[in-house]
Amino acid sequence: MMDQTTSHALEAPYVRTFEHGNAGRPAITAGGPPLLSITGLTVVLADQPETRLLDAVQFDLRKGEFFALVGESGSGKSVLCSTIMDVASSELRCFGDIQFEGRPLSHVDRRRRAMIYQQPSLYLNPVRNIGFQLRETIQMIGGLSKREASERAVDLLCDVGIDDPKATMRKYPHEMSGGMNQRVMIAMALAMKPKLLIADEPTSALDVTTQKQILDLLERLRSDMAILFVTHDLGIALQRSDRIGVLYAGQLVEAGRADLVARTPLHPYTRALFSAIPPLSGHPRRLHSPAGNLPEPTQRQAGCNFASRCSGTLDICRHTRPALQGIPQQAVACHNLEA
Ligand SMILES: Nc1ncnc2c1ncn2[C@@H]1O[C@H](COP(=O)(O)OP(=O)(O)O)[C@@H](O)[C@H]1O
Ligand SMILES: [Mg+2]
Repeated sequence: MMDQTTSHALEAPYVRTFEHGNAGRPAITAGGPPLLSITGLTVVLADQPETRLLDAVQFDLRKGEFFALVGESGSGKSVLCSTIMDVASSELRCFGDIQFEGRPLSHVDRRRRAMIYQQPSLYLNPVRNIGFQLRETIQMIGGLSKREASERAVDLLCDVGIDDPKATMRKYPHEMSGGMNQRVMIAMALAMKPKLLIADEPTSALDVTTQKQILDLLERLRSDMAILFVTHDLGIALQRSDRIGVLYAGQLVEAGRADLVARTPLHPYTRALFSAIPPLSGHPRRLHSPAGNLPEPTQRQAGCNFASRCSGTLDICRHTRPALQGIPQQAVACHNLEA
């Protein structure tokens, strides 16, 4: 549940954004109000409130946008996704503001956003066959008879590249491979006709052909919704997204237009990610982390979380956490842009 009464201790005075100097450059997003607007999102452990899993995260998403979220394991990507879905664990407390279609998240019908999880087993019901589960979801949206819902279920299974949808409808999750279950889960998310689709590493378990099929499908559907896509594959991030956000130790350290972030990264962490493997080599580009370790949430100190791994650390980096700032096309949280 989002706690709207941000306590003084958790206020994030270092969140500042300013807009300037973008004349002549294409807008990063379509016009109009954002579908999703996140401001100062801080997530802490309920029994240890000084431990921040997310720290003053801030970004917007508009209809039709594909926003890729990258960052190494443990940086807070899944916590961010589940917070936006309003299904964060009860061990966590959330501060800040999330607006969906201009209203606080808690006031919005949950069915307007859907999530594809990394592990389908968390989502699919083991004791119901696929047909039952898909029909149930389709009928929950309303307006269709059982027979019509079955037909729509078959269409959805075709859309996600399942060759024999009728036989698949009769199967149970344990009778299918992880990749097949992943496709079923994507079909189920799409059945909800969501305005926001959150995909938490949905294609990492899939072979390259299926992965492409799913990404092409999302490409066709994206005009009707916004997609927040968590991935470890920098190639997907660069080729498919409009914008890339880089999460490091719970903080969005860089965010901006995909081509700019990939080709002229400003944060030393983003530079390390994108320099490790040439971004256009044509193969899946797994996220390669720089030397050193991501600090655990309990070990994070004042100052920049990346300081211990950075070659350009200044004195200020050790005691003042840099804010995400810049132009909408590319914003960065770093004190030493000269490094
Ligand atoms: N319910 C929880 N209780 C305590 N720590 C948690 C909880 N959920 C996540 N974390 C911690 O938050 C950090 C971010 O986790 P997560 O969002 O799953 O990372 P990512 O998805 O980027 O790999 C990790 O250090 C993880 O151990
Ligand atoms: Mg995760």
